[in-house]
Amino acid sequence: MLHAVAPAKINLYLHITGKREDGYHLLDSLVVFADTGDEITVAPADDVSLSIEGEFASAVGNDEDNLVLRAARLLQQDAKVPTGAAITLTKHLPVAAGLGGGSSDAATTLKLLSQLWGLSYTVEALSALALPLGSDLPVCLYAQPAFMSGIGDVVDAALATPPLYMLLVNPRKGLSTPDVYGAYVHEERQSEPLMLGSSLIASLKDMRNDLQRPAISLCSKIGEVLLELDTQINCEVARLCGSGATCYGLFSDKASCERAADTIRREHPDWWLAPVSI
Ligand code: C5P
Repeated sequence: MLHAVAPAKINLYLHITGKREDGYHLLDSLVVFADTGDEITVAPADDVSLSIEGEFASAVGNDEDNLVLRAARLLQQDAKVPTGAAITLTKHLPVAAGLGGGSSDAATTLKLLSQLWGLSYTVEALSALALPLGSDLPVCLYAQPAFMSGIGDVVDAALATPPLYMLLVNPRKGLSTPDVYGAYVHEERQSEPLMLGSSLIASLKDMRNDLQRPAISLCSKIGEVLLELDTQINCEVARLCGSGATCYGLFSDKASCERAADTIRREHPDWWLAPVSI
């Protein structure tokens, strides 16, 4: 049996730079991966099957539309694997939350199955195979700090990110990614060049998530979450993750991040919270 964590994906900034003829948006984004996420195990079996456990299991469909199952079948067919796998997904992350959960689950499944079935696919080969499953698949397969461009299909390593302490907060409201992109109204905006290394946090303050405004227009609770994060001591940046509704607060140190988690948990016991390190 093989096991791995499918880490939560966080877009530290997400700028929309244009739109393709097919409706997909062109992005410029810095993506990092948290030290927390869903869990995947795979075990040898005659057929491909999926069982789902964990806090958010009931929010995930266990049918042929499930990205984990689609990814598994895609690899099985592409590599002409004569056997299957019993896959278990333990869903710790909220669903439709802007954390790339489904994509990260599918990416991790592909890497585990590749190992279980003794295949020699590179991350690049798996990315090309899996892109039709979702534009976050390539960066989730890479699973390291990266700049993402194109529609998500171009992934470049982002070295020299300092340790980051972030509080993820979700008001337990699901948001549909196509709906958020659909509510986006394009504005030409100048962007400062990003500084990596020790200037990263200061530089991120000048960046944006261009999906934040449309996401708030669809889910006003996000405004409340951002205000809560922004008013915590030593919160340097408070921003929407991906297409939401999860938001991150980026803190200058771990103790401030944990203190903010305690405060917000007390005030909003119904919200989902996770202090994470990068
Ligand atoms: O690729 P994925 O299935 O995750 O995308 C879901 C939807 O989000 C797309 O159908 C599209 O409406 C929107 N999207 C977009 N531009 C991107 C990524 C997603 O418009 N770069």
